[in-house]
Amino acid sequence: MEFYVIMSLLIFGCSLSSYSQVLLHTYMYSYVKIKTTWAGAQQYCRDNYDDLATITNSKDMSNSVFTNSPVWIGLHDDPNAWKYNMGNESNSWRWSATGETSPTGYKNWSAGEPDNGGGHEFCVVMDPNGQWSDVICDQLNFFVCYNMTNQNQTIYVFVANNFTWNSAQAYCRQYYTDLTTIDYSDDNAAVYSAKPQTQPVWIGLYRVPWTWSNNSPSLYRNWFYLKPDNYYHAEFCGYISSSNHQWDDISCDSVMSFICQQVSKQKTIMRIKIKTDADMTKSVFNTQILQQIGVKLSIQGWTGLYLQWNTEPQGRN
Ligand SMILES: *[C@@H]1O[C@H](CO)[C@@H](O)[C@H](O)[C@H]1NC(C)=O
Ligand SMILES: *[C@@H]1O[C@H](CO)[C@@H](O)[C@H](O)[C@H]1NC(C)=O
Ligand SMILES: *[C@@H]1O[C@H](CO)[C@@H](O)[C@H](O)[C@H]1NC(C)=O
Ligand SMILES: *[C@@H]1O[C@H](CO)[C@@H](O)[C@H](O)[C@H]1NC(C)=O
Ligand SMILES: *[C@@H]1O[C@H](CO)[C@@H](O)[C@H](O)[C@H]1NC(C)=O
Repeated sequence: MEFYVIMSLLIFGCSLSSYSQVLLHTYMYSYVKIKTTWAGAQQYCRDNYDDLATITNSKDMSNSVFTNSPVWIGLHDDPNAWKYNMGNESNSWRWSATGETSPTGYKNWSAGEPDNGGGHEFCVVMDPNGQWSDVICDQLNFFVCYNMTNQNQTIYVFVANNFTWNSAQAYCRQYYTDLTTIDYSDDNAAVYSAKPQTQPVWIGLYRVPWTWSNNSPSLYRNWFYLKPDNYYHAEFCGYISSSNHQWDDISCDSVMSFICQQVSKQKTIMRIKIKTDADMTKSVFNTQILQQIGVKLSIQGWTGLYLQWNTEPQGRN
């Protein structure tokens, strides 16, 4: 998006917000007929457009570029981010207390876990044996909170309420510090001893699945009934299935056509009259004003801004 300002006329504090609504998320889609893998499609889009398509609402979906053949979109759930590593990527595991991965990278998964079995396992229990498994967040489980004392000691508290992960988190945050964090094997042993031996419990580990190739925060999803299902534990990429324009998950090594996007560029010219004693022909002053306008516009959600003065000849207006 480009943005020019002409130094002249009136209107300071005019409601710039009225523009932002229109200008955010103006994606233009292009259908690419070549058949390739998800990664191949992403590379092609990044080379020739901006990125694989992000779809942010049903209006995007009704855009005419969508054909009746299956096409990749930019949605993926990168297994490298959650299956093998304790990383810091958008699909990685995070601890409730920090919203981040552990600085130690400590993990203690049960054999074959995490597997996102069935495609909806985004929260973690400590199994009866003290190791971890990913399960559906709406399961009901007892849980372990921790409380940080004024002496900086961590106290683990077993809570015998059969709650979903979200309710357990809310409970821990209300009465203690948070759902438990486990950074070391000593922490793991302490949580293990805090709970009855036969009892699985929620711990504070969770993740955000399915994110967009261009890192868009859009939460719009149009999954087909019972999808995604991570069938055979091997479906980490999203596509628009042919029949109903709804979405499905599939192996990223499948080959199909795809949709790229380009963020449409807008040039806006604003006329601003500034009443000031400062010498506006001096760049030190008009640069400051430009920076302040830039800050205001970013707060309102404008991105990719390029601001520039376009001084008009003296005497006009
Ligand atoms: C994860 O990302 C956050 C925010 O960018 C950063 O502060 C933190 O140090 C990162 N942690 C690791 C383990 O890389
Ligand atoms: C993982 O948990 C088990 C069960 O609590 C424990 O015996 C083992 O030492 C832990 N492993 C690590 C690396 O902490
Ligand atoms: C929690 O509730 C579920 C579903 O009602 C039940 O299967 C499970 O046994 C309960 N767990 C405990 C520890 O009571
Ligand atoms: C948790 O720790 C705080 C001190 O940080 C203390 O004031 C509070 O009483 C503790 N809560 C419980 C339930 O032990
Ligand atoms: C607890 O830890 C915080 C931050 O690490 C530190 O500022 C504080 O002095 C510590 N308090 C005690 C009693 O050790």
